[in-house]
Amino acid sequence: MTETMRAMEATRDDVALVEVPVPTPGPGEVRVNVASAAVNAAEGKVISGAFAGRFLHARTSPRVLGWDFAGTIDAIGDGVTDLATGDAVWGHLAFAGSQRQGTYAEYVTLPRDAVAAKPADVPFEVAAAAATCAMTSLQAMRDYGRLAAGQKVLVIGAGGGVGELAVGIAKRLGAHVTGVCSTGDVARVKAAGANVVIDRRSADPYAGESAYNVVFDTPAVASYGRCARLLRPGGTYVTTLPDGALITGLIRSQFSSRRCRFVQVASKRADLELIGGWLSDGLQVTIDSRHEINALGAALRRQTEPGRTGRVVVEVAGGW
Ligand SMILES: NC(=O)c1ccc[n+]([C@@H]2O[C@H](COP(=O)([O-])OP(=O)(O)OC[C@H]3O[C@@H](n4cnc5c(N)ncnc54)[C@H](OP(=O)(O)O)[C@@H]3O)[C@@H](O)[C@H]2O)c1
Repeated sequence: MTETMRAMEATRDDVALVEVPVPTPGPGEVRVNVASAAVNAAEGKVISGAFAGRFLHARTSPRVLGWDFAGTIDAIGDGVTDLATGDAVWGHLAFAGSQRQGTYAEYVTLPRDAVAAKPADVPFEVAAAAATCAMTSLQAMRDYGRLAAGQKVLVIGAGGGVGELAVGIAKRLGAHVTGVCSTGDVARVKAAGANVVIDRRSADPYAGESAYNVVFDTPAVASYGRCARLLRPGGTYVTTLPDGALITGLIRSQFSSRRCRFVQVASKRADLELIGGWLSDGLQVTIDSRHEINALGAALRRQTEPGRTGRVVVEVAGGW
């Protein structure tokens, strides 16, 4: 008889508790008993049927979403020798059109190298809140943007889930950081480590020329065309969305020394280990609210409310 587990299905109108088969870890994989998860903009894109949602999750039924997780190893596939059952781990389930799992479930399986040991002093909820946003930020600025110590970066959306972590991570990469946010987030963005904060409600963040080595457009609102002037020669504009503005930017950048890139976050153990150390060391991630898994609907709604400040955490263990 197939063993089943509890999971939350997300439909267009609501969420519902479902029983689905417990996944079995294959060779080189681990199974994680999820303690905490966190909400991203991705859920809304999949649930609404937006085009971008097709690249984030499979159109399965029941549709179990959620990508961030922290939890404990519960089973180990052949060939995994450096983790044991009971070990605390964290990570990000891959965004992919073929993704059939979700972290709004009791268990997920992943390749061993898509998880990292969770530092003991980082709570499960903090690790879950940080996983996707922090890895996206690190890879956007360091890998796609080639941001190096001593260089200057502009983080647009610095009060958001990705942006707040981008500010702290850019500082830890040794960069000079300018954050763009709204008035209510100025103090928090400063506390995250920004050298300069531009309140976009009272100043124009796009004024100036050749000021930055990297512009990281976390909410994908500005476009390459608008930001190229802000970049130094050889500098890079990085966006988070594969939209029409990206295509235009990629074409325009062929005729310029200023580069245009799109970050697609990848689950990497080495990056999680690096970020885990930073979280232990005080990398700032603000938690807006905590919701038990049986109140997932409220958590998903909270993600889209105007007053949200930081990450929406879902307590999966014990919340059924
Ligand atoms: N490609 C990938 O791998 C990847 C990975 C993770 C996330 N993402 C995407 O990244 C995006 C951001 O995610 P998130 O979690 O950071 O969202 P979030 O928490 O909602 O933050 C978005 C931030 O953008 C700011 N913003 C909105 N409109 C703006 C504008 N016109 N000018 C300047 N700032 C503006 C908002 O602040 P104010 O409006 O208050 O100023 C908010 O703080 C989402 O679309 C998500 O899907 C992509």
